[in-house]
Amino acid sequence: MKELNIDIYLGDSKEVLRQFGDNSIDLIFTSPPYADQRKQTYGGIHPNNYVEWFLPISEQLLRVLKPTGTFILNIKEKAVNGERSTYVIELVLAMKKQGWLWTEEFIWHKKNSYPGKWPNRFRDSWERLLQFNKEKKFNMYQEEVMVPTGDWAKSRLKNLSETDKIRDKSKVGSGFGKNISNWLNRDMVYPTNVLHLATECNNKNHSAAFPEDLPEWFIKLFTKEKDVVLDPFMGSGTTNLVSYKMGRNTIGIDIHPDYYEMVKNEIESFQLILNEPKVKYEKAKNNGRTELRGKQHRNISRKKDS
Ligand SMILES: C[S@@+](CC[C@H](N)C(=O)[O-])C[C@H]1O[C@@H](n2cnc3c(N)ncnc32)[C@H](O)[C@@H]1O
Repeated sequence: MKELNIDIYLGDSKEVLRQFGDNSIDLIFTSPPYADQRKQTYGGIHPNNYVEWFLPISEQLLRVLKPTGTFILNIKEKAVNGERSTYVIELVLAMKKQGWLWTEEFIWHKKNSYPGKWPNRFRDSWERLLQFNKEKKFNMYQEEVMVPTGDWAKSRLKNLSETDKIRDKSKVGSGFGKNISNWLNRDMVYPTNVLHLATECNNKNHSAAFPEDLPEWFIKLFTKEKDVVLDPFMGSGTTNLVSYKMGRNTIGIDIHPDYYEMVKNEIESFQLILNEPKVKYEKAKNNGRTELRGKQHRNISRKKDS
């Protein structure tokens, strides 16, 4: 069986990414620092400079992503002085000019966000995950994320109208339509582009760690085993550890030495959990690169599909 790798790098993604080959990554899944946030922990970027800061990195990401690959960017602008910043919108436009296709937008609904009271808005309980691709045709394994038909079927399929029974022509003229009766007697259906996940995560060592379920869902959807998943802003390494558990090769980069060390230690404990003597841990001599190389493990506990 072919070895799986977790490679982590300490440094600025803009520079580190230059070492990687063209068209070598299947999925980029990441949450970069948001503008002006968390200055105390890893430095904020002013919203006015965000696009300028991000573009050299996304230029490298565009180069390393395979034509069949996908880039998922978890990002959310905050409200400043009663207004939402526009840097995410500006970033999407700039990335399109750079050569990216903006193919989809997913919403992560944070099921358990804290209640609160603000004078001119309600509590923020969602974040966006922007999907970018190089080509219109990319790898997508939709069957991997199917969900139980559930209550929707009970109410919606109970009383089918005449239009439901024939192919209902799209009202927006998109050429796509739906025949709802096709979904009768099915146990599983395709999900929507809204993910309902709690914010809680097992890994509390990073102030902005996302829950493991988030990368897991996208890794299932856009990769298969042995593919390569990159997180250029790895933080506590959530993407990398989940990828490895799922039998994917993975690469993580972080500019902050503390986070780099933390992930390195995490990999070591992970190695102990695996309790597998064939796994070899080694630090590369020249470039500060740390590698965990080992056989793929079928006995690693996986989260149940939601
Ligand atoms: C939002 S956090 C990522 C959190 C991560 N998703 C997790 O689950 O822990 C963003 C990370 O990007 C890192 N970072 C900021 N600028 C960077 C750069 N130019 N290159 C690499 N990493 C960077 C920060 O140190 C921080 O850990």
